[in-house]
Amino acid sequence: MSQAKKALTFTTRPGHSVSGDIIVPGDKSVSHRSIMFGSLANGTTHIKGFLPGQDCLATMNCFKAMGIEIEGPDSDHNVTVHGKGLHGLSQPKEQLDIGNSGTSIRLLSGILAGQQFSSSMAGDVSLNTRPMARVVEPLQLMAANISAREDGTPPVHCHGSSGKLKAIDYLLPMASAQVKSCILLAGMYAEGTTTVTEPGITRDHTERMLTAFGYPVTVEKNIDGDEQKTRISIEGGHELTACDIQVPGDISSATFFMVAGLIAKSGEITIRNVGMNPTRIGAINILKAMQGNLTIINERMAGGEPVADIVVKASKLQGIDISERDVPLAIDEFPAIFIAAACANGTTRLRGAEELRVKESDRIQAMADGLIELGIECTVFADGIDITGGEIGSGTIHSHDDHRIAMSFAISSLRATGSITILDCDNVATSFPNFVSLANEVGLSITQA
Ligand code: S3P
Repeated sequence: MSQAKKALTFTTRPGHSVSGDIIVPGDKSVSHRSIMFGSLANGTTHIKGFLPGQDCLATMNCFKAMGIEIEGPDSDHNVTVHGKGLHGLSQPKEQLDIGNSGTSIRLLSGILAGQQFSSSMAGDVSLNTRPMARVVEPLQLMAANISAREDGTPPVHCHGSSGKLKAIDYLLPMASAQVKSCILLAGMYAEGTTTVTEPGITRDHTERMLTAFGYPVTVEKNIDGDEQKTRISIEGGHELTACDIQVPGDISSATFFMVAGLIAKSGEITIRNVGMNPTRIGAINILKAMQGNLTIINERMAGGEPVADIVVKASKLQGIDISERDVPLAIDEFPAIFIAAACANGTTRLRGAEELRVKESDRIQAMADGLIELGIECTVFADGIDITGGEIGSGTIHSHDDHRIAMSFAISSLRATGSITILDCDNVATSFPNFVSLANEVGLSITQA
């Protein structure tokens, strides 16, 4: 009988100062989309700076299983995708294995809904408990023959469409880039113009990539005089043309090192080539409002996305009421921001963040449980949390197989009085395969076994 794989545990020792000049890996959202668009384009797409994390490799394997030839990633993180056009995918022989990746399953739902062939997708234990009704329902409105389990969780089955999908005008019930992107991707296979209105600003990598691949898309901001509301429209029947993609460094990964630099007792870290897309900079807004010493230098454009270098210095952080506008712009960064809050003077309050409960784990509860274990006072609300800064002690943390929970508590060791043991850290490899080596390079002390 084969032995079950032992789960990876991080053990940290207290750290003090940090220093370094680092580059974080490629952006996860852009890497996923580069494979998807490259596969559906006519011609060959060259991707530079691809994130070789398990989530993006899952997306790559799905497209390989549908007959797309993809080379790489090589040791320099280059990938070449030999696209076959919008109608060039072939039926996968088996159920597509999505692993831990919500972005893959939700965006692929939009693509597969438009195919004539049947297919099915499922993932790991965590993904298979996450809500898919948010994509299945609008796709059904588009006349897609698609279903999930009765409780809305995976597997997602696409039963193949006999004709074109139907365009819809859809108001997103929540600010979600994954749902928006799913509907826009299905919109390429629909008769007429599909319109999605988002209630809050979410990452716009899909819209930017549609434009980069030559597919017309219209973006109208400030709908009904509300600057948070954006309407995106796409007409079916156009084509994608291959192009070269340069993936910026992932600001979500950079945030762990921003927080590390800010909470350390002394030192400075420079993080190079970080994607600064305005729909992703919520963490910078929040950490600056907490009086974090972050300086943005060398701002430039690379591959259609703004990038910059960030210089972070040890700071005396102050608790704040987080602006609800920053919530969708910092949605993946809250676990790390909660560590900054635990090291700040006073109380930090977050509301309007109920989406955190349906990420790779329930991130409000998982973070609260870990912070309380380490001696930090916090109060949980349905849509947020209050965290009062204090002394971080030592203890054992359950990451709930969530990469960002694991990395956040690893960073907290910089201010801990003792050792922290973090359980079930394998999924750090989904988004940040070299996290431990980079963290140790700047002055943390993390061992993994
Ligand atoms: C993502 C969108 C966000 C984010 C996820 C990546 C994307 O999810 O949390 O990590 O690439 O579109 P939601 O759309 O569910 O907020």
